[in-house]
Amino acid sequence: MDKKIYGIDFGTYAIKIYRIRQGICFHQKSVIASKGKDQIIAIGEEAYEMYGKQPEYINIDFPIRNGVVADYDKMLALINCIAMDKAREGDKMKGASFVIAVPTEVTDVEKKTFYDIIDASIIRPKKIRIVEKPLADALGCGIAIDDSNGSLVVNIGADTTEISVIAQGGIVLSRLCSCGGAKFDDAVIAAVRRKYNLMIGARTAEQVKIGLVDLASDGSGTMKAYGRDYMSGLPREREVTADLVNKAVAEPLETIIDAIRSVLERIPPEISADVYRGGIMVSGASSALGGLAYHISQATGLRVNIAPNGATSVVDGLGRVMEEEAYTHLAKPLRRTYYEND
Ligand SMILES: Nc1ncnc2c1ncn2[C@@H]1O[C@H](COP(=O)(O)OP(=O)(O)OP(=O)(O)O)[C@@H](O)[C@H]1O
Ligand SMILES: [Mg+2]
Repeated sequence: MDKKIYGIDFGTYAIKIYRIRQGICFHQKSVIASKGKDQIIAIGEEAYEMYGKQPEYINIDFPIRNGVVADYDKMLALINCIAMDKAREGDKMKGASFVIAVPTEVTDVEKKTFYDIIDASIIRPKKIRIVEKPLADALGCGIAIDDSNGSLVVNIGADTTEISVIAQGGIVLSRLCSCGGAKFDDAVIAAVRRKYNLMIGARTAEQVKIGLVDLASDGSGTMKAYGRDYMSGLPREREVTADLVNKAVAEPLETIIDAIRSVLERIPPEISADVYRGGIMVSGASSALGGLAYHISQATGLRVNIAPNGATSVVDGLGRVMEEEAYTHLAKPLRRTYYEND
């Protein structure tokens, strides 16, 4: 592998970058704030801070949606800004090589778009290779992927949940379900509106979700939420109960559990036995949802392990691909992967 190389996980919610032998060097929201046609005002956390409060002339965009690039120009601008910010910090990406994690269950064109963005950026990369996201994720979770034992990994992100079965160093099965943390936030918004006639923003809903949801408890906690009263239109504060939000997030979570069940039904019996013995590994930043292991375990009858580094497991796995000889073969050039018959 090259001397200077970065691994990137383009998440819907956050972009994570790992620099070889140094670890995670960037982890910020996939958000860009701009004015007019192409004047960039802020990116990452700074742009997210403005979200929901911005004046009309400022656009806040999330260029990744459902795990794929939804806005090419904004994504390119975002990458260029990251490269410039990092250069200012003394970490020059220019001319470096890259490994990018791509979801397995998306089209070849969608996979190639990630590649094209790095290729077209001011970075002028030396080499770009791609790694199937479920393999990077499993490695990042510490799973011995070359083992003959099969593993089931469920990565719950913001817009997507990727459910994958890994065995003998490869992906046996992978399914991308369009449900994740953002759907939990939507469910909290809807429940608070129904119960308290209070309109809350997406950022407040996320704070309530993180602070209050505990799927393993009786839901007796409470938390203050601020928003606008539906009837009077005036600003209001309400004490939101854990019971309400627990029930709210359980609904979209059921979609994820159904998807896990449908994958379990399709795996070969020998791997079923491995999953029964080893349990399910849950990663992605949404894996930190309170009581999630208990809830999934109750629903599937299987043991559930939550990855300790869920928010960064994919990019940590890319780190291993870059640093460990045994896994470098997982990084493939785009041509060989998708244009084999060219
Ligand atoms: N402590 C927490 N408890 C519950 N949810 C959390 C916690 N921390 C972050 N999240 C949620 O995790 C989600 C982001 O997860 P992650 O960073 O893995 O997504 P992503 O990789 O950017 O998205 P995707 O994989 O869908 O493209 C958000 O919905 C966020 O609200
Ligand atoms: Mg992700």
